[in-house]
Amino acid sequence: MSVGTAEELTARLYDRVRGVIPEAEWVIHAPLIARIHELKRERNAVILAHNYQTPEIFHGVADIVGDSLALAREGARVDAEVIVLAGVHFMAETAKILSPEKTVLIPDLRAGCSLAESITGADVRELRRRHPGVPVVTYVNTSADVKAESDICCTSSNAVEVVESLGVDRVMCLPDQYLAKWVATQTDVDIIWWDGACEVHERFSGDEIRRYRENFPGAVILAHPECPPDVLEAADYVGSTAGMTAWVRDRQPRQVVMITECSMSDNLAAENPAVEFVRPCNLCPHMKRITLQGIHDALLYLQHPVEVDPAVAARARTAVERMLAVGRGSGG
Ligand code: 13P
Ligand code: SF4
Repeated sequence: MSVGTAEELTARLYDRVRGVIPEAEWVIHAPLIARIHELKRERNAVILAHNYQTPEIFHGVADIVGDSLALAREGARVDAEVIVLAGVHFMAETAKILSPEKTVLIPDLRAGCSLAESITGADVRELRRRHPGVPVVTYVNTSADVKAESDICCTSSNAVEVVESLGVDRVMCLPDQYLAKWVATQTDVDIIWWDGACEVHERFSGDEIRRYRENFPGAVILAHPECPPDVLEAADYVGSTAGMTAWVRDRQPRQVVMITECSMSDNLAAENPAVEFVRPCNLCPHMKRITLQGIHDALLYLQHPVEVDPAVAARARTAVERMLAVGRGSGG
């Protein structure tokens, strides 16, 4: 790529994010962004980025962006030799489970998740002993070992649909207690939950939401279902990150409070200039391990390849594919 073309590319990209990234910061990002685009071509690679990635990644280098469901679904379809997962480890594992022939890279091996850490395959086997015959629905925010012990996976986009697809009276919904409790409010199916939680969403409280109502009386409050029940009760809409994105894009509220990870508001603000975002900010330290430099190095050195034991991957794939077959996510 000639220098002129790289400059045109980064200038075009900056037009999308000038509202959320100061120019002084962009001049540092731009050369790295141009080089990442070159490396993608050289490596026949695509970058999948979760909605919680920072705007310079989300708008600057990603080929596919979305929630956990979209990344799983699109990751299985991409026609590339290399997938770089700008997200957390369980997302990269899911991509590898669905595309074992591809090289799947995670730019930082420390990008974990408190939910994935909260439960093991042995825990699921013990739960099955305690609740014989009750199907296990696991959130994709889990390790491959846990997925392998599950009947079907779900995301926050399709959890209710997945639970109801089983046609039974009782299911185990693991490991996020808050997602499970929220699902229980949306269905007649009896839900058994585990005590895992997302360290980011668990920190929001109902009192905090009430303060936003007082201070921003005209604002719409959108919350992720990984939040505690008192938060969700006080919100105007509950949905996955894709659900929230669609809500803002379609309805263009004057002012909105996003009860989720910080980068969501930044990424949406870049795309919705007429909407004012009140920014309560709980950062996910794991998502923030991913940087432009890390993505650049991942492509240059093909680091860090994610591997899943083929026997575990085969069982985990069944659970993920069953979820994908349930159909489109409800977006909330
Ligand atoms: P979704 O993007 O699927 O809503 O998940 C949010 C999340 O916390 C992912 O780690
Ligand atoms: Fe895990 Fe929560 Fe971070 Fe998502 S936001 S990766 S659920 S800790």
